[in-house]
Amino acid sequence: MGINYFSYRNRRCLGRGIGKNVIMLNQLQTIQIECKKAIENCQSLVDVEKKRVEFLGRKGKLSALLKQIVNLSDDQKKEIGQKSNQIKKELEGCLNNKVAELESSSINEKLKNEWIDITQPSLCSQEIGHSHPLTQVQKAVEDIFVSMGFMVLDGPELESEYYNFEALNIPSWHPARDAQDTFYIKQKSKKDTNKFLLRTHTSPMQVRAMRKYGAPLRSIAPGRVFRNEATDACHDHTFYQVEGLMIDENISIANLIAVMKTLLKEIFEKDIDVRLRPGYFPFVEPGFEVDLSCVFCDGKGCKICGNTGWIEFSGAGMVHPNVLKAGGIDPEKYSGFAFGFGTTRLVMMKYGIDDIRLLLNGDLRFLKQF
Ligand code: PHE
Repeated sequence: MGINYFSYRNRRCLGRGIGKNVIMLNQLQTIQIECKKAIENCQSLVDVEKKRVEFLGRKGKLSALLKQIVNLSDDQKKEIGQKSNQIKKELEGCLNNKVAELESSSINEKLKNEWIDITQPSLCSQEIGHSHPLTQVQKAVEDIFVSMGFMVLDGPELESEYYNFEALNIPSWHPARDAQDTFYIKQKSKKDTNKFLLRTHTSPMQVRAMRKYGAPLRSIAPGRVFRNEATDACHDHTFYQVEGLMIDENISIANLIAVMKTLLKEIFEKDIDVRLRPGYFPFVEPGFEVDLSCVFCDGKGCKICGNTGWIEFSGAGMVHPNVLKAGGIDPEKYSGFAFGFGTTRLVMMKYGIDDIRLLLNGDLRFLKQF
């Protein structure tokens, strides 16, 4: 094809010698043929890029040739310009095709090498995990209470100041707030009277449950609580509690003791004695601290119980009339008990763990023991 073109031009130029444009057309064609061959021989993307630079780059063969265009007449410039553009486009197309070809073959190659049979049974044995000791004990507690007719409720960890304190008979000036310092959430504006905080106990669920379900009521609310607390072996800023609430006509402290004993017997798989000491919580009246007979020495006295034979377990009491009222329940007709204990403490006692921090630090060497 190149020869024909050359001879046609040749004939047209007979008598005037071979025109400069013809020579350039010829050279353009040579570049075209050379470049196509070179592209065909490329084995890699790097090769293709090299050829792109060699032929079509700013300092490449095509640009070098086109520099001579200044010596041509206007008509000839137009002719050569058009032809070179056409060739450039064609060669660019060839280069791009080659890139696509090499890329797809390299993907195919990769797929071939990396092929795996996903239906093949695993060669390495899979380790099966289990739930955290805190979760295990919480689930056990839930089952025990469900068997006694209690509902299991879930409440918000980000709680309003109202439910966490005010509704529980703890107004803003009350010193009991100091004992439960927590993390307050920034208010959007000063006008915003709704203050939010990370709940310091699960007790806000008392009024929430009363408002939602009314009386009679039996519910527990397990969950996470927070305190602005320096951590040590016995304290953490984040821990778990279970709140219990039973409201009906003629509920007494005897019912509270029976429920506690049933819970502890099931958890520790043996009879556990409980005793009540007076304790102050603004939302119960009377209020108690519930102790259990030391599970490590069966009440005989040991290092863990400080030789007293008792371990502090839970706060409890008869629900204060103000709290019943806040929950929309008539204190003249109904009474009830409430208690709140630390699931975290229960886990520590059940398994003899002496440092609370082990429970939330995620160390698998510790967790695998349960
Ligand atoms: N909310 C109390 C605490 O976290 C415990 C408690 C619950 C006491 C219910 C009495 C009644 O310390």
